[in-house]
Amino acid sequence: MAEELTKVTVADFKALKGKRPITMITAYDYPTALLVDRAGLDSILVGDSMAMVMLGYDNTLAVTLDEMLHHCRAVARGARRPLLIGDMPFLSFGVSESESVHNAGRFLKEAGMDAVKVEGGERMASTIAAMVHAGIPVLGHVGLTPQTASSLGGFKVQGRNEETARRLLADAKALEEAGCFGIVLEAIPDRLAELITQRVSIPTIGIGAGNQTDGQVLVLHDALGLFDRFSPKFAKRYANLTQIIVEALSQYRREVEERTFPGAEHSYSIKDEVLRRLS
Ligand code: KIV
Repeated sequence: MAEELTKVTVADFKALKGKRPITMITAYDYPTALLVDRAGLDSILVGDSMAMVMLGYDNTLAVTLDEMLHHCRAVARGARRPLLIGDMPFLSFGVSESESVHNAGRFLKEAGMDAVKVEGGERMASTIAAMVHAGIPVLGHVGLTPQTASSLGGFKVQGRNEETARRLLADAKALEEAGCFGIVLEAIPDRLAELITQRVSIPTIGIGAGNQTDGQVLVLHDALGLFDRFSPKFAKRYANLTQIIVEALSQYRREVEERTFPGAEHSYSIKDEVLRRLS
C-alpha cells in the first residue's frame, strides 16, 4: 500500500513551536527535492543561495525572479510532503508595494510554492504585511542578510553589541506583527537567538544561531560537501559528495580510456549471421 502523504502546511509548521525542532534545508532542483522529501524533512527553502552554489555567482544579488521561479517549479515537482518556501531575490520586493505583492504571488501561482521568504526586518514590515494581507504566507529573515551584506559591513556575525542586539529584537517583533509565520535568524549569537525565540510566538529557524531556536536550516551543498569555495563556521558537512563524485568520474574516465567500459553487460548484441550478411 502506498504510504500516506501528509503535506506539511504553514499551520503545522507554526504548531511545531515548543513541540519539537523544525527541520529545513535548501534544494534547487528535482532530484535533490526528491531526496529531501524521502529523508523526511519538514520544509524546503529554494534559497537565493542558488546564485552561488548552483549558478556560480560570487554573491546572491544576480539571480533573477524568473530563475528562482524556474528552480522552484522543479523542486515542487520533486517534493510532495515538505512545506515549500521560495526565496524572493534582491529587488524583487521592497521597491514598490504592489510589485512586491505581485512578485510574491508568482511563487504560489506559477511555481508551486506554499510560501515566500523575504530578507529584512522593520524596514520590510509594511511590505510583508501587504503580502500577508493578500494571502501569501511569509517567512522573515534577519541577522546576516546576504542581499544587504555590503551595508552590514560584509558577511559578519550580527547583534553582538547592545545596540545591534536591540535592533534585531525589534526586527523580529516587527516581523511577527507584520504577520510572518516564522523567522530565519542567520549568524547571530546563540543566546541572543534564544532570547528572540522566547520573545516571539512564531517559530525561529536558525542558521549560525545556536541550538535553542525552534528549528534549523542549512544550505544543501554545505551539508553534503558539494560546495567548497568557502565554508561558513556554522555549516556542518554531513557527507563529502565532492570526493565521492570526483572519484566516480575519475574511474569513468579511466575505464573509457582503457576500453574497460562499456563491458558486455552494458552492450547490445547482434547475431553473427546478420553481421556476416553485412560484410
Ligand atoms: O538563500 C538561502 O539559502 C538562505 C538560507 C541560508 C537561510 O537564505
